[in-house]
Amino acid sequence: MKIRAIHKGEFEYTESFVRKIFKNTGHTDGEYEKAWLKKIREKPFYIPEFDLVVEDEGKIIGHFVLSKFPISQKHEDEVLMLSPVSVAIPNQRQGVGEYMLREGIQLAADSGFKGIVVEGDFRYYRRFGFRTSTEFGIHASQKNLPPSEDYLMALELCENGLKNISGEVDYSMYND
Ligand SMILES: CC(C)(COP(=O)(O)OP(=O)(O)OC[C@H]1O[C@@H](n2cnc3c(N)ncnc32)[C@H](O)[C@@H]1OP(=O)(O)O)[C@@H](O)C(=O)NCCC(=O)NCCS
Repeated sequence: MKIRAIHKGEFEYTESFVRKIFKNTGHTDGEYEKAWLKKIREKPFYIPEFDLVVEDEGKIIGHFVLSKFPISQKHEDEVLMLSPVSVAIPNQRQGVGEYMLREGIQLAADSGFKGIVVEGDFRYYRRFGFRTSTEFGIHASQKNLPPSEDYLMALELCENGLKNISGEVDYSMYND
């Protein structure tokens, strides 16, 4: 199993991969997540080196993206958003997610970013050190409230990385 940046020729494949995996959760048909991934790739916040896949015996079994994310329209060169995160259905719960996210977090830290925000299940993300974002003064916009406050989380990539970064998480720039 190895992690690497995606190749451009794999964009469509990973968009379908994400759709299939999210559909399998039973919470969505996956079309929203597929469209979201396409949008991330079109925006100036996208960092090609942080669009990562896990390959095993030549097959993609995991994928995630870390893209720049403004907090109250600032700090986009310091903060990343982790989304979407997908592990191939037959490979779930075997440590692929844990492996790839630890690698991604290390890469982000080594690249000098200060923190990562993620919206998702806190029972999963806590193991990587993510904490409720409001502990850092980072909160969801009224325009995109998560199911509860716990679902929006943040991780500092260095000591006090988020100390001077606070404000709103607003996805409006992805609404067009
Ligand atoms: C969530 C996901 C990325 C985790 O990757 P994974 O490779 O399956 O997970 P790992 O093997 O690294 O970790 C497994 C652990 O996470 C837990 N876990 C897996 N998915 C979880 C979820 N959605 N919520 C809470 N815990 C979860 C498992 O119970 C297991 O816990 P344990 O180690 O205590 O037994 C993957 O299951 C997936 O792609 N799910 C569908 C898409 C999705 O929900 N993406 C995340 C959106 S925020």
